[in-house]
Amino acid sequence: MARYSRLPGSVALITLHNPPVNALSAAVRQGIVDAVQRALKDPKVTSVVICGQNGKFCGGADIREFAGPMSGPPLVPMIHAIEAVDKPVAAAIEGVALGGGLELALGCHYRIAHSKAVLGLPEVTLGLLPGAGGSQRLPRLIGLTAALDLITTGQPLDSRRLSTLPCPCPPDVDSLLDKVMSKVRQRSRGALAPVACVQALRAAASLPYAQGMEKERELMATLFNSGQARALQYAFFSQRVVGKWSLPSGASWDNSTARTISKAAVIGLGTMGRGIVVALALTGISVVAVETQEKQLAEASRVVPAMLQREAGRRRLATPPGVISFSSNLQDVSEVELVIEAVFEDMSLKLQVFKHLASVCRPGTLLCSNTSGLDIDQLAAVTQSPGLVVGMHFFAPAHVMKLLEVVYGPRSSPEAVATAMQLGKRMGKVGVAVGNCPGFVGNRMLKPYLEQANFLLEEGATPQQVDEALEEFGFPMGVFRMSDLSGLDVGWRIRKEAGLTGPGVESTRTRQGRRYSPLPDQMCEAGRLGQKTGKGWYQYDGPGGRVARSDPWVDIFLETYRAEHGLVARSITPEEILERCLYALINEGFNILQDAVAAGPEDIDAIYVFGYGWPRHRGGPMFHAGQVGLGRILERLNHHHSHPDVPHLKPSTLLRRLVAAGSPPVQKWREFINKERVHS
Ligand code: NAI
Repeated sequence: MARYSRLPGSVALITLHNPPVNALSAAVRQGIVDAVQRALKDPKVTSVVICGQNGKFCGGADIREFAGPMSGPPLVPMIHAIEAVDKPVAAAIEGVALGGGLELALGCHYRIAHSKAVLGLPEVTLGLLPGAGGSQRLPRLIGLTAALDLITTGQPLDSRRLSTLPCPCPPDVDSLLDKVMSKVRQRSRGALAPVACVQALRAAASLPYAQGMEKERELMATLFNSGQARALQYAFFSQRVVGKWSLPSGASWDNSTARTISKAAVIGLGTMGRGIVVALALTGISVVAVETQEKQLAEASRVVPAMLQREAGRRRLATPPGVISFSSNLQDVSEVELVIEAVFEDMSLKLQVFKHLASVCRPGTLLCSNTSGLDIDQLAAVTQSPGLVVGMHFFAPAHVMKLLEVVYGPRSSPEAVATAMQLGKRMGKVGVAVGNCPGFVGNRMLKPYLEQANFLLEEGATPQQVDEALEEFGFPMGVFRMSDLSGLDVGWRIRKEAGLTGPGVESTRTRQGRRYSPLPDQMCEAGRLGQKTGKGWYQYDGPGGRVARSDPWVDIFLETYRAEHGLVARSITPEEILERCLYALINEGFNILQDAVAAGPEDIDAIYVFGYGWPRHRGGPMFHAGQVGLGRILERLNHHHSHPDVPHLKPSTLLRRLVAAGSPPVQKWREFINKERVHS
């Protein structure tokens, strides 16, 4: 027989009871069938354990039954039925699990055995084979070689100690490990942990257990000491911190209410608008997609549904995506609850669109802009409800990239910020609330980084040298490869609008009182806009080509430029490239913290990790600054700043103050900044 009992909680226990070894007699089989049925019917039972009375799981079939006609439920369907149960069933093996007993255990979903238990399939010694699924399930569990050994000899096994077993390997194990290692190295871009994992597995495959354990210990110690583990844990933590946003006004995630959006509109169906439409529709929101240029509208109506279908399939959506309707008429957005504007980066055009929206939309509609850095307050000012205007700054491609900067101005209401943050969350984004200033957080920090990269070209570096240093650091792409990908004309248009370049602007290396490099403008003037024209800082196979090759044209262009401006090329080390580019970016991060545009270093770091390819195993720029040492960053900034030709690296006041306060760890900066603010 088999006894059924409910353990405290939700586990049903089925105990086989048939002394001396709990053989699977007809009564025991019937008992098991009944007990399993009972466990299935009891809604309070969520899992089942099968064990044996008196410290013995089960010695197998009752051999005495072989002589006469079978009675009771047959073994094979009984074991099949156990395997098919949708509540997890575990075999708790003590003493013995032999023959049919082991086959019963193999039909369970999990097995746990006492260290002194003996397991085996001795059927072969009785002129049989394990005919209750043993010959089919065992090789699936332990592999063919081990199953062949056990089943053909019928020899019982002690309960397994994995540390005593050899590691089953394919014959070409070394080439397999080499292949995996080179793939992992390529993918991990300087992250140590994936490489160490392969090294540990190589040790398992090639060394005795004790030496393998020693290797594992060594590798673990290296990882602990590398600082990458701390950086990754910090990156994980900062993702959570940014969700708990707060505004200088005191409004925050826990005292503001978000509206739930079900109907939205997107204005402008270019690169960004299309991705935003898809991101919204994927959450089930119905979207009115507006575009004024006929050709763009026709293309978007064709491309966007295909993008949506592909993405919905990839994500295996539980609910159907929202309906998208395309229109060339802004009037059609009158019924939506939220609008995201994604027209050209042109303030006068955006002002015109916002004015129009304010007149068309019903009162209370949230008006958002995807601007990369224009003034949100100016847009808010042309509407009747400036409190309902925020920036929703997506990154390309908008349905894929995780980052969303939610930009608030002094007049943005907590409800508008809360709604944009919640919408970002629904779209699977990492939303970071940031203050309004040119470029917000991400692009504001990018500016000095790009500037330094251009200055380095003037001083003697090549685009490849700069990119290699940055890629070696862990960026997926160096700055020049990246600008070829996104198009050199994007920045060109912004600089023209800012009056930094264009007809009538004198071609000097100082503009608007600051050192300026006209190199990227001259590239654009030469028609080298990047991948789209097949030529940029690199050359490509043709327009739209993706494989970057160095271009002698660029070398000659740089040499000519230096000669024209009396610049003498010098040799530049990868260290200088990293210091000039990264410390410039980090320094701007300190300015941003000081200006309260970002609430804390975690916000900046999340922006860089999720939107700008900063290597996650380096935590983010502000975390990295802490790891390098704030004193060291300050010293190097001062060093470069003292050079007459590198004027943009004046160390931030906050950085100086932090160093003066003994360089507290990054986790303490927020508190430090708030205290300083109270005292100043
Ligand atoms: P785009 O040039 O690809 O698309 C802009 C679209 O807006 C065009 O199709 C144009 O016909 C349409 N448009 C212009 N005026 C319009 C109007 N009055 N009504 C409706 N549609 C109109 O530009 P992209 O790259 O999509 O950029 C859009 C916005 O997103 C800009 O503010 C840009 O700064 C920002 N952004 C761009 C990123 C990028 O990587 N391209 C990244 C993040 C933000």
